[in-house]
Amino acid sequence: MATIVNEQAYAEGQSELKGRVALVTGGTRGIGAAISRALAAHGATVAAGYGSNRERAEKLQTELSRDGIAMSIHQSDVGSAEECRRTIGEVIERHGRLDILVNNAGITADRTVLKMSDEDWHKVLAVNLSGAFFTAQAALAHMVERGSGRVVNISSIIGQTGNIGQVNYSASKSGLFGLTMSLAKEAAFALKRAGKLSPHGANITVNAVAPGFIETEMLESVPEKVLDGIRAQVPLDRLGRPEEVARVVRFLAADASSYITGQVWAVNGGMEM
Ligand SMILES: NC(=O)c1ccc[n+]([C@@H]2O[C@H](COP(=O)([O-])OP(=O)(O)OC[C@H]3O[C@@H](n4cnc5c(N)ncnc54)[C@H](OP(=O)(O)O)[C@@H]3O)[C@@H](O)[C@H]2O)c1
Repeated sequence: MATIVNEQAYAEGQSELKGRVALVTGGTRGIGAAISRALAAHGATVAAGYGSNRERAEKLQTELSRDGIAMSIHQSDVGSAEECRRTIGEVIERHGRLDILVNNAGITADRTVLKMSDEDWHKVLAVNLSGAFFTAQAALAHMVERGSGRVVNISSIIGQTGNIGQVNYSASKSGLFGLTMSLAKEAAFALKRAGKLSPHGANITVNAVAPGFIETEMLESVPEKVLDGIRAQVPLDRLGRPEEVARVVRFLAADASSYITGQVWAVNGGMEM
């Protein structure tokens, strides 16, 4: 029966996410915008979150509407638990359901350990790690009730390797691995306890994607000389593109990816292996 689910999904091709509603936090520029586009292109109704840059959010909305795709935009600070819960409620009220959550919003505040302020530590952990937790916590209740869902947490290669000047960022991104595995186990357990874990269904899966160095505005503050050094460490000899990360998220978001949970998917040109 599971094979039938897969075959159906392949046959559906471009519409494999049709009828699904996805929230992509930080979904209005960079990697998040590529994820929003990819999910929408495969049939999902997309709600894109953003922090403060409304202009960029509206720009993406206009761009997608030219292709006949309606996307809603939602301002919120994922560094606040209250705002995470409010956003999940807002998306469900607006679209009637939530099937796919992509925790993508993230920030950096780079300093070496000895120079790192309390504020730089706390704000990066609040947005990158606590934000993913509080958003997923609010989404999970709804997903368990529906009996299906997909959560994808955007981590980073820096969570796997560490990096000078990024102790806060690295800790937040490593933290997402533990969050992903525990949430994957709890989601399956909660479904089972509710009598909704089905051998033939989409169920609830939780995975992480760990991009390497990807060409977005996040890298604008990195000096060109440092970027050259990074490229030299990548077997494929270049930085990644946001679309290359989005492709994996879209794959994991599909109903047919129903036997993959608690995993980390690296998209790094072979930089870490
Ligand atoms: N670029 C890379 O090389 C790379 C590598 C590995 C992992 N990643 C991860 O991939 C994700 C996306 O990175 P990116 O390079 O696309 O970043 P980006 O271009 O800087 O975009 C960040 C997005 O997150 C939103 N955001 C930031 N702080 C927020 C907050 N407090 N509340 C709500 N939204 C907030 C931003 O909204 P506004 O537009 O309103 O500011 C924006 O939409 C991040 O989690 C990052 O850590 C990136």
